[in-house]
Amino acid sequence: MSNSGPSGILGMIAQLQDLERFREQNWEGSFEDYLEIVRQNPSVTRNAWQRLYDIVISFGTETYTEYRKPIIRYHFFDDPFENGKDAVFGIDVHLMKLVNVLKSAALGFGPEKRVLLLHGPVGSAKSTIVRLLKKAVEWYSRQPEGALYTFEWHQPDGTVVPSPMHEEPLRLVPPEMRTQVIEELNRQVAGNATYRIEIDGDLDPVSRFLFREGLKQVGGDWNQLIGRIRVKRLLLSERDRVGIGTFQPKDEKNQDSTELTGDINYRKIAELGSDSDPRAFNFDGEFCVANRGIIEFVEMLKLDVAFLYDLLGASQEHVIKPKKFAQTHIDEVIIGHTNEPEYRKLQSNEFMEALRDRTIKIDVPYITRWSQEARIYQRDFKRRVKKPIAPHTLEMAAMFAVLTRLEDPKKPNLTLLQKMKLYDGKTQPGFTEDNVKELRKTAIREGMEGISPRYVQDKISNALVRDADAPSLNAFMVLNELESGLKNHSLINDEERKKRYRELLGVVKKEYEDIVKNEVQKAIAADESAIQRLCGNYIDNVKAYTQKERVKNSFTGAYEEPDERLMRNVEEKIDIAAARKDDFRRELMNYIGALALDGKQFNYKMNDRLYRALELKLFEDQKDSIKLSSLVSQVIDPDTQAKIDIVKQRLIDNYGYDQHSATDVLNFVASIFARGDAKEPG
Ligand SMILES: Nc1ncnc2c1ncn2[C@@H]1O[C@H](COP(=O)(O)OP(=O)(O)OP(=O)(O)O)[C@@H](O)[C@H]1O
Ligand SMILES: [Mg+2]
Repeated sequence: MSNSGPSGILGMIAQLQDLERFREQNWEGSFEDYLEIVRQNPSVTRNAWQRLYDIVISFGTETYTEYRKPIIRYHFFDDPFENGKDAVFGIDVHLMKLVNVLKSAALGFGPEKRVLLLHGPVGSAKSTIVRLLKKAVEWYSRQPEGALYTFEWHQPDGTVVPSPMHEEPLRLVPPEMRTQVIEELNRQVAGNATYRIEIDGDLDPVSRFLFREGLKQVGGDWNQLIGRIRVKRLLLSERDRVGIGTFQPKDEKNQDSTELTGDINYRKIAELGSDSDPRAFNFDGEFCVANRGIIEFVEMLKLDVAFLYDLLGASQEHVIKPKKFAQTHIDEVIIGHTNEPEYRKLQSNEFMEALRDRTIKIDVPYITRWSQEARIYQRDFKRRVKKPIAPHTLEMAAMFAVLTRLEDPKKPNLTLLQKMKLYDGKTQPGFTEDNVKELRKTAIREGMEGISPRYVQDKISNALVRDADAPSLNAFMVLNELESGLKNHSLINDEERKKRYRELLGVVKKEYEDIVKNEVQKAIAADESAIQRLCGNYIDNVKAYTQKERVKNSFTGAYEEPDERLMRNVEEKIDIAAARKDDFRRELMNYIGALALDGKQFNYKMNDRLYRALELKLFEDQKDSIKLSSLVSQVIDPDTQAKIDIVKQRLIDNYGYDQHSATDVLNFVASIFARGDAKEPG
């Protein structure tokens, strides 16, 4: 590539930027250089909790109200690192609790001495949350504002010994002088710092050893000894096992605490000639690896009791005590997760009691807001899947998932489906926000049971694969897959529950029918000028009726009685009883009259009910003219076909269908009407 011209310049800048970055990330200097960095930017000395909290809030927030309480959404949970791949939706209240714990830990109020335990039903985003936190820790260490440092020993004999725990260089200040030195450092800090510089804990055993030995060699001169130290920027990386650890218990008999705390290296003992030489130790336990960052405990409650003491020491004292070896200080966030069944199983266990006392449990329930649940599948499938997904497909799957998680409402005037919609922020006559809050309060198990997103994800992908030749994915394919999957769902083994889930699928199918029926009706009636004509006609008649006049027939010019059949035909569509018709007509005329006084003209879109009634009436008239029911029979004359094509195009333009799914949905609705027509006598 040439270096002239705009593209060359751009390439050059990119290259320069990377070099700058590279230099920054590979910074190396003396201990004194490091002190200068600290003076300029004391945040490099933050502990693991402070860093984690700062990352989370660094992406900003937005606040909204729910049941009249302000809820904070942290943009961090949109996963800014991988374009939303691990975004967590719909459980902001719980994520807020998590962030508050991090905040309090960052300020040193106590949670930094505890284990965080995410607890929830299977597939409720626990691992996702931890994955996000780990990714963030890794990313942050590479940013200028997230820089952190460690050191290595450059020994007189030429060997280089890195701090095996990647410790903060300030720990090299001997404990007996720390208070004064840190005090002075804090005084010299430029500008306002968020946190005070503090150093807790001892050096790692290797550094302690080299320190002691070295001090002897230089006759006790600390300044000379510190000349052996090279400070380096520390980049955390899960893959390189630096600053990010994961511990997953294997089967119960096979657990060995050295996996957590590290182990003596017998080969090195032979080399060094002493088993008390700390250099004969492998600091490869997960706690050692995770120092300065974060350690995740997968299925924490499967941990063997033998590990309990390690875990408790690590959290409470920030110390690990390897077998036959000196104890070591650690600085890391400890976060575990467990699913609800596992947690309940161990609730009466003594092991749990000691642990429970030292853990902060954060509930991570399933989503109970329909539209939020739908976002999971939209994220998973909209971007990745090439073939079109018919409107409502993913939403109906989400609806089923949420319905399985809700308790039946105890109020007789509320169905489960209605309750679900209320939870999603829809309104329902007779229910205020306070009522909804009350509903939520009384159903305490909600979100802790039901179908997991993982099950739904699996079934959607099944449906995609099973009907690989189908031109698009539709709701029935997914709902059928969800249903047939129930047969051998490993987690649902009682028949009662399966039966309930099948019924709920029925509820969803019914709701889907209503939605698409409505869309097809609207698409058929979406002829603006026809609606306007019908509206004008209706209003002329109503006007004449209320004023006891006659209507001029626009065709013959003759004056006629108002067309009662037409008016009733419209009104019946929105269930206006004959006894109420006069009121309805009068209110409408009053409204139109008031508008006229303001010099405004009535438009059917100003009255939702009338609009709907007109649509339905128009649909009824047109349904026969496009012979919707004949669609099922496949023999269609060109004239009808042309009309159908218009409707199809409206479904595509106005409702997001593609060619195939529009045909599907038309056929489906036609079959519903064919059924309906067949039922009607005559
Ligand atoms: N609230 C949510 N927001 C976004 N995605 C979610 C949410 N809940 C679950 N998921 C999705 O569901 C799937 C399962 O999530 P994850 O593996 O994090 O669950 P888990 O709680 O760790 O489950 P388990 O208890 O089985 O380990 C993931 O694809 C995840 O993205
Ligand atoms: Mg998990």
